[in-house]
Amino acid sequence: MDLRPAGVGGEGLQVGAVEESIKGEGGQKKRRQEEDEEETTSTKKQMTDHGVKVATHYNSLQEVGLAVRSRSRIFFMRNFNNWLKSVLIGEILEQVQDAGARQISVLDLGCGKGGDLLKWRRGGISHLVCADIAAVSVEQCQSRYEEMKKKSRINEKIFSAQFITTDCAKEVLSEKLDDPELMFDICSCQFVYHYSFESEQKADMMLRNACERLKPGGFFIGTTPDAFELVKRLEASDCLSFGNEVFKVTFQSKGSYPLFGCQYHFSLEDVVNVPEFLVYFPLLEHMAKRYNMHLVSKQRFSEFFEKKVKNEHHRSLMMKMMALEPFPTEDGGQPASDSSREYNHAKEHYGKAEVKVPLGTLSRSEWEAASIYLVFVFQKKA
Ligand SMILES: C[S@@+](CC[C@H](N)C(=O)[O-])C[C@H]1O[C@@H](n2cnc3c(N)ncnc32)[C@H](O)[C@@H]1O
Repeated sequence: MDLRPAGVGGEGLQVGAVEESIKGEGGQKKRRQEEDEEETTSTKKQMTDHGVKVATHYNSLQEVGLAVRSRSRIFFMRNFNNWLKSVLIGEILEQVQDAGARQISVLDLGCGKGGDLLKWRRGGISHLVCADIAAVSVEQCQSRYEEMKKKSRINEKIFSAQFITTDCAKEVLSEKLDDPELMFDICSCQFVYHYSFESEQKADMMLRNACERLKPGGFFIGTTPDAFELVKRLEASDCLSFGNEVFKVTFQSKGSYPLFGCQYHFSLEDVVNVPEFLVYFPLLEHMAKRYNMHLVSKQRFSEFFEKKVKNEHHRSLMMKMMALEPFPTEDGGQPASDSSREYNHAKEHYGKAEVKVPLGTLSRSEWEAASIYLVFVFQKKA
């Protein structure tokens, strides 16, 4: 199968102009301060209930089985995101093991319903702490873990685990650990960090929780929307929103983007429908230095995909996880979208002598959604 999501290898990113518009012109500190103060007052109201909104939203999401999931319009995109997390987690675990760690402890910050439990099991870790603001999600995560333990092979040692329901952008997590001495090899924060960029205090608390208990040489890894990409698309739109048949992003204004509290509404099929905040990455990188963290890598999903797919092992995992949609569909199956325009990019490649069929692809709309995100890896200085 030839692996080629829509847009991969296409247009380059021009973030320079966008970066300027996020940072503001001329560095007029005083004006910035005044704006920040205004912003703080105007966002105060949102601040009181944003965590509640997020928790309520994620608590209300129904856990659905594979049969329902496979009929979802974004089935392949979700698998693609999951593949990407698997590759990232697998590679970081390998690095930790290569550095000599035998008993690996992990913090899953914003664990949700436990979508990554199997990845931690496969990685042979010893201990996992799962934390999330949404109580129902944490309960489901814990039951999934118990179920996993029950069904494990007799001589397989499953990691021990602790489950914590808390707002990680407000509360100090280390005070809630069963083992007050516990230090982590890895903190994984997948599709979560952007909820904390509501204010400097919240973004910093989330970062503190991610990093303060990391061992020297430990990793803070994650995925989050790329602010440059979001602003680039917003600026290209003739209104305050952009999107397609699977997702929609709506800002409240454009032209100026505060460093914290720059809220937009994100909806994605039946999975996400909640306010989020721009994460201006250079600022996160700067803030992380307070915790002795340095940035190892930051890549857009497209870059990450292009690199990793060259590896045979990652390629075969991609097939196993059905992370791309076969084009044309096999055995009379239905494509994720009925609109043939969604597959124009695949049609262009189909039929070329060097291309193996079926192609592996994502529909254009799914790729436009997935390609908003970036993957980051920070490491604590030894
Ligand atoms: C898109 S889900 C991702 C879940 C999981 N990490 C995954 O990749 O499957 C985002 C999660 O972040 C959690 N979250 C958002 N804000 C949070 C906060 N302040 N503290 C803890 N968890 C938070 C939500 O409750 C939700 O479970």
